[in-house]
Amino acid sequence: MPGTALVTGASSGIGEQFARQLAARGHDLVLVARRADRLEAVAAELPTEARVIACDLGADAASLPARVAELGLEVELLVNNAGFGTHGRFWELPEGRDAELVRVNCEAVVVLTRAFLPRMVERRAGGVIVVASTAGMQPLPYEAVYAASKAFAFNFAGALNAELRGSGVRCLAVTPGPVPTEWQRVAGWDEMTRMPGTIGAEQVVRESLAAYDRGAGSIVPGALFRWAMRASALGPRALKLRVTERLYRPSGSLPEG
Ligand SMILES: NC(=O)c1ccc[n+]([C@@H]2O[C@H](COP(=O)([O-])OP(=O)(O)OC[C@H]3O[C@@H](n4cnc5c(N)ncnc54)[C@H](OP(=O)(O)O)[C@@H]3O)[C@@H](O)[C@H]2O)c1
Repeated sequence: MPGTALVTGASSGIGEQFARQLAARGHDLVLVARRADRLEAVAAELPTEARVIACDLGADAASLPARVAELGLEVELLVNNAGFGTHGRFWELPEGRDAELVRVNCEAVVVLTRAFLPRMVERRAGGVIVVASTAGMQPLPYEAVYAASKAFAFNFAGALNAELRGSGVRCLAVTPGPVPTEWQRVAGWDEMTRMPGTIGAEQVVRESLAAYDRGAGSIVPGALFRWAMRASALGPRALKLRVTERLYRPSGSLPEG
């Protein structure tokens, strides 16, 4: 029987899909996010046992492992998925918002992985999935801290994967391109053009779990984005910065300088 999987950010989008697909594989679940009502609604629809823990990972991530232990649960698979983005000129974004982003997208990932990984290594079983982003593959003007946070997540997961070789435990970095979820609204995009090759959360998670099963270290879900990221890696950084600065520039732009 598969063991318990803990999914952060399970109240919507990609995390909710992880919860549904892992439950379909027979995992019991611990669902974590701030909106308990949304988590309860997801839990009620799952075919396996699902516990709900309402937790603000920007404030209380360190309290989560003890709350899981109180339930008498051992986490076999940790899915570090919770996260959000910001969009705009760095110095104009609400003060504190990007610092909160770093706590959720980076610090909570480290804290939770540090808490649950030792037992996995001891048992020589289990794994960690870290949801990074193609946004972390290069600097992104107007999503400066978000892109940097996802570069952190991607590199953290890659290094862990190498450290874990031979341990019986695996670590996968998932780097999706744009996925229509609540992410865009939360980040403050008025509207976002659906890029060619855009895939849904269901496919992101299906491809990610297949990559996890075969022991891959990272996956860019969606064939078109996979190739686009390979091609983009060859482009000069200065050119990519000029292009992304144009593409991501918010309305009400600075005059050309
Ligand atoms: N959508 C995309 O285009 C895209 C692309 C690449 C990577 N990603 C990454 O994929 C992950 C999932 O995003 P999504 O697209 O599914 O977006 P989403 O629908 O907005 O889901 C984000 C999840 O994170 C949770 N979360 C946010 N802040 C939290 C906090 N302080 N404490 C606890 N939970 C928190 C939210 O739950 P509550 O609000 O209930 O707390 C929600 O469940 C994120 O890490 C995101 O950066 C998204």
